[in-house]
Amino acid sequence: MKIKGSTNVVALIGHPVEHSFSPPMHNAAFKSLKMDYVYTAFDVNPNDLENAVAGAQALNIKGFNVTIPHKIEVMKYLNEIDEVASLIGAVNTIDFKDLKGYNTDGIGAVKAIGEVTNIKNKNVVIAGAGGASRAISFYLAKYGADKLTILNRNVDKAQKLADDVLASGLIDDVSSDDIKNMDLKDVDILINTTPVGMHPNVDDVPIASAEEMHEDLVVFDAVYNPNETGLLKEAINVGAKPVYGIKMLLYQGAESFEIWTGKKAPIDVMEEALRKTLGF
Ligand code: ATR
Repeated sequence: MKIKGSTNVVALIGHPVEHSFSPPMHNAAFKSLKMDYVYTAFDVNPNDLENAVAGAQALNIKGFNVTIPHKIEVMKYLNEIDEVASLIGAVNTIDFKDLKGYNTDGIGAVKAIGEVTNIKNKNVVIAGAGGASRAISFYLAKYGADKLTILNRNVDKAQKLADDVLASGLIDDVSSDDIKNMDLKDVDILINTTPVGMHPNVDDVPIASAEEMHEDLVVFDAVYNPNETGLLKEAINVGAKPVYGIKMLLYQGAESFEIWTGKKAPIDVMEEALRKTLGF
């Protein structure tokens, strides 16, 4: 890649940012399409967030990805927030053309699942009620899921999220329960957004009732390290369809790429770069 006077800049802001997988993924995409763009990362202290957004505008930076701890706070400094991002209450993508914020995390998960099944009219169970679950839940509702059950250790938190998703009017059947009470009998899609099973505790699974998994089930694990979590291994054992966490990273990146550039993201190139970075 040649950096020239004309090169457009896109960047990740967060605190910290040095372990991000996004720069190699996006730079591989720009290179493959011969686009005069570069993707870099800036570690922005929370106290400097407003200045970082104003500075990026002044420098004619084209877009940001936004990660922890800025995803909520940064919304204060934008002109416009996409409708679903606004319901979620967090953005991970900024387009400086109109200083508009988007949330591509949830859409990334929905597109990842979309590789193996359609969300429409499905009965979905989601484990966890944190930021990832929130982003995914609103997109499941938007894409026409029929029924959503949010399971969490802290049931009040799950119920609060269920109330918020119901209030959006995008879906009319949302409930919450203790994560211990998972019942997968009539469920089409199971999603894990908790960190259970993440390296180094790779044998842990977020559900007690793995034996209830069935071969018509699609199981998506947002955990991407390891690539094949204990939950996905059990899913494969019973003949259920696995969806790997890496696909959510891929599709959230692809969505951001399309927002900034208006071009179709080269999915295969991005996936190869991502796998290389993550080592699988
Ligand atoms: P993220 O942005 O990745 O969603 P988060 O907002 O910190 O991260 O949310 C983590 C979620 O995983 C929460 O739902 C949390 O449950 P609680 O609300 O009960 O804390 C869940 N979680 C974290 N560790 C867990 C564990 N060991 N077992 C079950 N759930 C866990």
